[in-house]
Amino acid sequence: MCRVVFVVALVVLVSPEAHGLDNGLALKPTMGWLHWERFMCNTDCDTDPDNCVSERLYMQMADVMVKEGWREAGYEYVCIDDCWPSHQRDAQGRLQADPKRFPGGIKKLADYIHSRGLKLGIYGDVGTSTCAGYPGSLGYYETDAQTFADWGVDLLKFDGCYMNWTRLGDGYVTMSKALNRTGRNIIYSCEWPLYEWPFHQPNYTAIRETCNHWRNFADVYDSWSSIKSIVEWTAAHQEIIVPSAGPGGWNDPDMLVIGNFGLSHDQQESQMALWAIMAAPLLMSNDLRDICPRSKGLLQNRQIIAISQDPLGKQGYRTAKVDSFEVWERPLSKKRLAIAVLNKQEIGGPRRFPIGMAPGWKICDPQCNVTQILPQYKELGIQTLHSKVAVLVNPSGTVLMTVTPANRHFKSHHSLHWQDTSIKDKHTTIL
Ligand code: GLA
Repeated sequence: MCRVVFVVALVVLVSPEAHGLDNGLALKPTMGWLHWERFMCNTDCDTDPDNCVSERLYMQMADVMVKEGWREAGYEYVCIDDCWPSHQRDAQGRLQADPKRFPGGIKKLADYIHSRGLKLGIYGDVGTSTCAGYPGSLGYYETDAQTFADWGVDLLKFDGCYMNWTRLGDGYVTMSKALNRTGRNIIYSCEWPLYEWPFHQPNYTAIRETCNHWRNFADVYDSWSSIKSIVEWTAAHQEIIVPSAGPGGWNDPDMLVIGNFGLSHDQQESQMALWAIMAAPLLMSNDLRDICPRSKGLLQNRQIIAISQDPLGKQGYRTAKVDSFEVWERPLSKKRLAIAVLNKQEIGGPRRFPIGMAPGWKICDPQCNVTQILPQYKELGIQTLHSKVAVLVNPSGTVLMTVTPANRHFKSHHSLHWQDTSIKDKHTTIL
């Protein structure tokens, strides 16, 4: 049995209750689809009608979401990102959709999305213009909030480009109040902390009171290096950001890029597992009209979605680094725990990780029941504190498990797969 060296004190997983934006929304991390990472600012509907930012794109995505089981799996919000509006406001100063790409207008699109049992998200910016150069909301917060409500919008992603950073807080708070005054249920997705970090540590108490979720870090790209950098940033700042997450308000590590081009299947599993552990909004940015069955199965995996949507609503932490493994743990309802083991060694083959080395393993005293969810569903059965069972983790892949405390008299019906635990003791850091 290998000896684990405790180097740093264990992060306290229980945080004080944080008070969130009191609009009754996002009690669980938001699930849906958002166009940005996959479709970006493609406005060329003449040569690329299937992929340009147009009402057709969202209608088609909504149709597929109903037909292909996405809605049933919990993906509910169909979200427009940047580049939807006309460059000019109308005579009353209201935003208007680009007339060529959205001939029916946003209200009609919202009606269509609602008729499919889904919800519509839209995008705006707290400053003078959006990141892609479309009209911003500065000076128009009331008008724009009312316009979105009149159209039947259900979520607003509010970006932070073209705004003096000292005025970000005022802007985000004013828009939050304006949305509330409309009386419509509109999830408020902010990028406030992302734009403040370069200047100072954001006030997460204020952010949680203002927004339903908030971006902290750079835009996700369709690459493993991008996913790694987001995961690393989150771990490096976990003591600051994790306590602010809870029902009604969530840290947003940006979109799921599963089903695109840049991630291997193991890396897609890592993104899905870690986003669930991080209690992140699950907003896919991919082409649901053309997605491979494996990626679809991963995104619709009910056990992973259950971890993401766990009613306790606590975000997980990175709890240990061991020989190029990272252990992430999220406390779940009913005293259960989700454990993700990420293999960061990008050379060689699958490596063994003895699960008793996860700090949260202490809930296996006297016994626990372990279920492996990724890479394959497998009941690992009843284990104890002294269990020598190990899981195999592929390079840049993740093994995801749930651990349920069990009583001693409870007998396992599953045969155990005992494996040699050959991990070296050195380099073990319990965070
Ligand atoms: C910023 C945001 C992205 C996206 C683009 C749109 O970069 O962080 O998520 O909304 O703007 O221009």
